[in-house]
Amino acid sequence: MPASKPTPTYRIAPSILAADFARLGDEVRDVIRAGADWIHFDVMDNHYVPNLTFGPMVCAALKPHAVRADGTRVPIDVHLMVQPVDELAAAFAKAGADLISFHPDACTHVDRSLQAIKAAGCQAGLAFNPAAPLSVLEWTIDKLDLVLVMSVNPGFGGQSFIPGALTKIEQVRRLIERSGRDVRLEVDGGINADNIRSVADSGADTFVAGSAVFGKPDYASTISALRERLA
Ligand code: DX5
Ligand code: ZN
Repeated sequence: MPASKPTPTYRIAPSILAADFARLGDEVRDVIRAGADWIHFDVMDNHYVPNLTFGPMVCAALKPHAVRADGTRVPIDVHLMVQPVDELAAAFAKAGADLISFHPDACTHVDRSLQAIKAAGCQAGLAFNPAAPLSVLEWTIDKLDLVLVMSVNPGFGGQSFIPGALTKIEQVRRLIERSGRDVRLEVDGGINADNIRSVADSGADTFVAGSAVFGKPDYASTISALRERLA
């Protein structure tokens, strides 16, 4: 009998972009109590993307809140939508980020930036916009902990999932399998209970959800509904 593929360990990463900014610490605690696996932290600079969010000081302030009731830490997953990359990546590593992803098209020396993030003690990821080619993965997959596929154009929460992302997710999954490495495949933008199953079937194992989680009053039942679709 052929060996069946092991079920991936799925992770749900609520994006605090959709949280109440006036109560961010409480929002982080509430969403962790509701079952969040990671906290997704969207950094926008009003240059690489047409919006402006929060920086390393906010990350440092939220770090003590990113903890479960049993004391275990919840990874802070920093998604840099900024240009240039290196200075802010270093500042976020100092501020307590666990994973740092950036867009290769926002960066001149991608390999050097990946090395710097790893040297600072963080896991490193590359993020790909809907129209961005994956070619850089040929030369970077051996250094990556995460590939982030954007399923909306970056800059705003609450947009609709772009279906072409499914094909891209399948391609990234094949590249990861070929590498034989343990690389997370995260999908970001427009994820909800109606599409999360098809996104997982295409090969994703980590799901950013902003408005789908923070837009509902009961975070726990929303996160459970997402998990049920993955079961
Ligand atoms: C978009 C951000 C996403 C966004 C997802 O630029 O990278 O993380 O917050 O939000 P939703 O889930 O609302 O599409
Ligand atoms: Zn994001």
